[in-house]
Amino acid sequence: MTSRSMALQLDTKDPLAKYRDEFMIVDQALCYLDGNSLGRMPTETANVVDQYLRTEWATKLVSGWSDWIDEAQSVGDLIGRASLGAAAGQMLCVDTTSMNFYQLCCAAVDARPDRKTVITDTANFPTDRYILEGICKQRGLKLVVEVLNDDVALVSLSVIQYRSGVLHDVAKLTQLARDAGALFVWDASHAVGVVPMQYDRDNIDLAVGCTYKYGNSGPGSPAWLYVSHRMQSELQVPIQGWFAQNDQFAMAQGFDRTTGMRGFQVASPSIIGMRCVTTAFSMIERAGLSAIAQKAAQGTELMLALHDAWLAPLGFSVVTPRDSKRRGGHISVRHHDAQKVSEAMRIFGNVIGDFRQPDCIRLAISPLPTSYVEVFDGFERIRDLVVTKKYLEVGEASSRVT
Ligand SMILES: Cc1ncc(COP(=O)(O)O)c(C=O)c1O
Repeated sequence: MTSRSMALQLDTKDPLAKYRDEFMIVDQALCYLDGNSLGRMPTETANVVDQYLRTEWATKLVSGWSDWIDEAQSVGDLIGRASLGAAAGQMLCVDTTSMNFYQLCCAAVDARPDRKTVITDTANFPTDRYILEGICKQRGLKLVVEVLNDDVALVSLSVIQYRSGVLHDVAKLTQLARDAGALFVWDASHAVGVVPMQYDRDNIDLAVGCTYKYGNSGPGSPAWLYVSHRMQSELQVPIQGWFAQNDQFAMAQGFDRTTGMRGFQVASPSIIGMRCVTTAFSMIERAGLSAIAQKAAQGTELMLALHDAWLAPLGFSVVTPRDSKRRGGHISVRHHDAQKVSEAMRIFGNVIGDFRQPDCIRLAISPLPTSYVEVFDGFERIRDLVVTKKYLEVGEASSRVT
């Protein structure tokens, strides 16, 4: 596994290799191993947005809204079909993950008014933990990391833990919560577009996620939320916006919530953003999630082999599970000088991963744009930066963003 010719051979045999050509890759020498944070740009996205601006916004002006008004639902359905195993009518593509998470978690705890406990995990993504803290504070609920009991209204975890890369058993944990009478809200931001999920088959009730990681839809692209058919009439989100109004354009007094997924929508969606999502998720649908997941498993396997051969002797260790069924597209490695190594990778190595406190570097394969040889070269450069101690030459971090 540690020869470059073997990585090249993996690329030759890779059924997804052709998709790399559908991305705009400006610097061919860059090893971009951070597609779990922000995906690369599909070249077609620039054409689609340009076309939208010229032939729709500029041309149709406000009349365009007749065509655009329900796009949050149709683009949501595409995300559900391409990546979540969700039949139509259970998705919206709208707002941000944080906003959608707040909306669904409030709806869930409000649907269990006699229960006073919410469960999450200290390793969960910060925005989720902070939002849950806020919801609990507003409603006088307890936020704990304990076991299920009959006081629990809501459990929330990430499908893949952002730092460690651990993949949870979504079906099993959802069922455990259901058996205890609690609702489960999943944050699938690090899983969508790389881990095959089957929400309908696995009886998932509620989930949110972003589109800018393996979804390749661009910085701040609209997020999504999923509410299963069976939960739609039981739950109501706290922000009662006009898009959820039954007869929206009657503009009447009093909120009269419509049925179905539009009843979960607050406001005007970003049409430009959704065109980026449509382009990128159509590519995911064409490539197929099972081929994507297979490449993620093989690519992370290559990373682990390179880690063991080159990085472990230099003081690195692996945080992510070695069983490919328990991880997604990224691995996380630990090193006592991780922050400096990560910075040096960008500055001296032309390799991009990311640093996560206190001592982790995350490295990802995004199966559509990343090649195996890109992974190989990236790891070789990391090794060389540490062997030569070149990484010690980096100064203070140059950005607030790590
Ligand atoms: C698991 C997870 N949840 C939520 C978010 C926050 O997303 P946003 O800032 O788009 O609301 C992120 C961002 O990286 C994330 O990784």
